[in-house]
Amino acid sequence: MTTIIATPPHWPAILLPRTATADPTDLTAAIRNHAFEGLRRSLRDGPTTTIATIAAARLRGRGGAGYPAADKWRIVAESASDTRYVVANGYGADPAVSGDRELLERNPYAVIEGAAIAALAVEASEIIIAVRAESMEAIRRLRACIAAAEDAGLLGHNVLASGRDLNVVVRPVQGAYLLGEETILLKALENRRGQPEQRPPFPATEGLHGQPTLVQNVQTLAAVPWIIVNGPEAFAQTGSKDAPGTILVQLRGPAGEGLAEVPMGTPLRQIIALAGTAADGRPIKALLIGGPSGGLLPAELMDTPYDFDTLRAAGAHIGSGSIVVADDRACVVDLARLLTSWCAAQACGKTIPCRIGTRRLAEIGERIVTGTSRPADTTLLADLSADLVASALCDHERLTTLPLTTGMRYFRAELEDHILRSTCPAGVCHPIAVAAGTVN
Ligand SMILES: Cc1cc2nc3c(=O)[nH]c(=O)nc-3n(C[C@H](O)[C@H](O)[C@H](O)COP(=O)(O)O)c2cc1C
Ligand code: SF4
Repeated sequence: MTTIIATPPHWPAILLPRTATADPTDLTAAIRNHAFEGLRRSLRDGPTTTIATIAAARLRGRGGAGYPAADKWRIVAESASDTRYVVANGYGADPAVSGDRELLERNPYAVIEGAAIAALAVEASEIIIAVRAESMEAIRRLRACIAAAEDAGLLGHNVLASGRDLNVVVRPVQGAYLLGEETILLKALENRRGQPEQRPPFPATEGLHGQPTLVQNVQTLAAVPWIIVNGPEAFAQTGSKDAPGTILVQLRGPAGEGLAEVPMGTPLRQIIALAGTAADGRPIKALLIGGPSGGLLPAELMDTPYDFDTLRAAGAHIGSGSIVVADDRACVVDLARLLTSWCAAQACGKTIPCRIGTRRLAEIGERIVTGTSRPADTTLLADLSADLVASALCDHERLTTLPLTTGMRYFRAELEDHILRSTCPAGVCHPIAVAAGTVN
């Protein structure tokens, strides 16, 4: 299990309970803590009110892109089809991030209830919670919770004598990094080969088995019961103006690591301080934000709010919800090279610009850190990255360019030291000559 980092008591605890429950599958204890109150209210108020409440709360998807949840709910709800699905994306693609799994293990009823409320709102016939097959404890707990809720008449046939059925299944899925992408996940759920599809049509209009499907990250769904019970105004007062609520952030760095529930919009500096800043008081050099295809930001940007739009403007993204702290011993160029190689290896191969282009990008990175680069490599990097962004079929291709493009944007001097002077100022890249006096 991941260490949960304690946060200031005045920060809201919407996703993870502040004190861990002895048995998170215990329905009686969960009901004492208001579980299924949101579902009761949604049944009473009806789909239009529920969707209006989610819209008023300005809830945005936590799976990375930050798309407004209510907009998707409306599209699915207004679709012509009689068969609709809700898919809770609990895949957790980034292998170094455990937020979604921890949520499923520690607060399974919140995810189940959130998905059930969403299903009522969009009038879906089935809810599928997709979880990594290796997250066996999460799967066990979810199934135990679903069985207990069905026995209590809170899920299954004729929920709370409302005439509505809410069928929930847990689907273990297994695959590579890309499987978390929604169009691939849907194919996996249909037992088909996992490659992304051109969008539009988006899953909201044509998803699972060709039917309108609401795909929503499990953190997005877990916030829903809280919003219904506490009201959209209370939710909108947490987090930032553009993105209310909280998010699970995985912190990793020389001084410590763990998972923290953080209000959206919290300055990066404050989030990092939760895990201790840098080891032995060493200066922070860079922050990798958003996972392996994240952006590398310099220490000067540590006051940037952790928010979808502010991070995007800085060249990074929320992505998988991870922040990695690198101190002055790290070589940013080598880090960017490593990340690019990893991302290139994840490309599914469906489209040629991504299949070939991301490899070429990784090769340039390789040349740069081994002292075999060419003076034109800086221009080539910029041109190739722009081409990859323009040709992307799925977001993976676009995001793969981020480590190197943010490296170029913020650490250009270090990059040019490598390319033009065959020097690694941090003394990490070999056989590149090391600048005098900088060897640690
Ligand atoms: C390469 C890649 C991997 C992704 N992995 C995940 C994932 O593990 N979990 C997730 O919820 N969304 C992931 N997404 C985003 C999903 O495609 C989708 O946007 C999201 O599940 C929608 O839910 P939300 O609106 O609540 O964020 C990934 C996207 C890409 C491009
Ligand atoms: S852009 Fe890359 S990862 Fe996405 S479909 Fe094309 S080859 Fe696959």
